[in-house]
Amino acid sequence: MADKVKKIGVLTSGGDAPGMNAAIRACVRTAASLGLECIGIRHGYQGLLANDMIPLRVEDVSGLASRGGTILYTARSKEFATPEGVKKAAGNLKAAGIDGLVAIGGDGTFRGAYDLSKEGVAVSCIPATIDNDIACTTYTIGFDTACNTAAEAIDRLRDTMKSHERCSVVEVMGHKAGHIALAVGIAGGATGILVPEEPLDLERFVFERIRHARNNGRTFLLFIVAEGAAKAQDVADRITKETGIETRVTVLGHIQRGGIPLVHDRIVATRMGYTAVKLLSEGKSGQVVCLHGGTYGCTPIEEAVAMHKGLDGEISVILDAILTGC
Ligand code: F6P
Repeated sequence: MADKVKKIGVLTSGGDAPGMNAAIRACVRTAASLGLECIGIRHGYQGLLANDMIPLRVEDVSGLASRGGTILYTARSKEFATPEGVKKAAGNLKAAGIDGLVAIGGDGTFRGAYDLSKEGVAVSCIPATIDNDIACTTYTIGFDTACNTAAEAIDRLRDTMKSHERCSVVEVMGHKAGHIALAVGIAGGATGILVPEEPLDLERFVFERIRHARNNGRTFLLFIVAEGAAKAQDVADRITKETGIETRVTVLGHIQRGGIPLVHDRIVATRMGYTAVKLLSEGKSGQVVCLHGGTYGCTPIEEAVAMHKGLDGEISVILDAILTGC
């Protein structure tokens, strides 16, 4: 058990995710309710190295739950990834009187927090990434909003693809994981889905699906490609080459990260922010806040970053049934 903290720092790092602001707000408000001072560290670990800090009072986070992005800005830092960088960052926290840090982001953010914890800083991590690729939690802040944004775009694409009886290949984000692709593929009624968790078998996941759809009288086709599985353009080129079907490519890109967070993300972010600060206030350091079946808990960082999250096995089985049933 670490000493109880009096002044906490909050930062966001890595790719932003809708709901990060709600998490910041929850940290500030929880800290205030516990009599702790709260400092915002801007531009992630890079900003920590540059002492880019601002006080965060309750009035500073008013109305923040519904805002996308992160008011603290975010960055990826090469300097912080060195042992000297970590030491300097820990020294800056100490000099500012910050004895506890809430780090909001993905696994790279957690590794940074873990390094700081080894320098004697009390840390608490909040999983926030649209990729939902953190194994110790069933849900990461931003996933639902990003999936809805992608699904809405795909609904629009379907209208025009149907009208022209074309094939649409849509590339979605997700880093090395297929959670977004699987979710929006199911929600968007895709003909087929390519995820990095499965071998890139175009015969099975694309051409067989095209034959099946055609045999069932379907005149338009929709494939969702996770960015970690393949390039949408390459898949489209193969479809055109092998079948002659008129194909169009859409790469949704960073659009998926923006926008007003959905209620689910605001609530999870709020509860995770609360939990992260409570852990620090109780002297419990080095944890990633996690959510399992409606219960909020925590996992030690070193365990969290060593775990691997696969796709939900049951969902894959259901998906097979739904795709082959059409
Ligand atoms: O981790 C979130 C994410 O949006 C990934 O899905 C994507 O691969 C990556 O970040 C993109 O990063 P950048 O904003 O640096 O282009």
